[in-house]
Amino acid sequence: MKRVAILISGGGSNMVTLVDSMTGDHPARPVLVLSNNPDAGGLQKAADRGVPTAVVDHRPFKGDRAAFEAAVQAELEKAAPDIVCLAGFMRILTGDFTGRWEGRMLNVHPSLLPKYRGLHTHQRALDAGDAEAGCTVHEVTANLDDGPILGQARVPVLPSDTPETLAARVLEQEHRLYPAVLERFARGDRRPVLLPRGGTSPIKAELSEQKNKNV
Ligand code: GAR
Repeated sequence: MKRVAILISGGGSNMVTLVDSMTGDHPARPVLVLSNNPDAGGLQKAADRGVPTAVVDHRPFKGDRAAFEAAVQAELEKAAPDIVCLAGFMRILTGDFTGRWEGRMLNVHPSLLPKYRGLHTHQRALDAGDAEAGCTVHEVTANLDDGPILGQARVPVLPSDTPETLAARVLEQEHRLYPAVLERFARGDRRPVLLPRGGTSPIKAELSEQKNKNV
């Protein structure tokens, strides 16, 4: 059985889908959820699911990334994961840290990489007039939002989209993609997972968007 640690900073919806997927004949189990943010909503969700949690608040380190990462590393070593999943973990990691976990660390990013590394991915997709958006799960290497792609899922961009509506449509796909990639990766299979386009057809997505506005 592979041991999985998940690093979060916020609500942890991706973390929840990963934790909930690791049951039955899944080849992995969650052993730790770690947050750099003591107020991350995901911490309680992990605890509710019986997963051990840890907090390494980055703020007292006052920009000393090496010291922050040493503290994260110490927590990870206690949990001895085989795989580390970044799931909405909003700290940039140094090459020293990612190098220690290379080949064993995954990240989910809300764009179709290599497009839109970094922040504000949905606004950037809208500004560019893209017809399609999506998300990527990739292996973490020294460069930000780089590294071998392990899976992608696509959604249509609608004329009425705001960054928020697009983010919600992409997040649904993150919840399908990340568990599918983790399961495959935990079996030692690094072939990319390519999901059929989600968010249904533009027309159906537009209708469900209207329905959501009515509730
Ligand atoms: C997700 O959309 C994830 O792709 C994004 O943050 C969100 C976290 O949501 N990650 C990044 O932007 C990393 N650069 P969650 O806490 O509900 O999983």
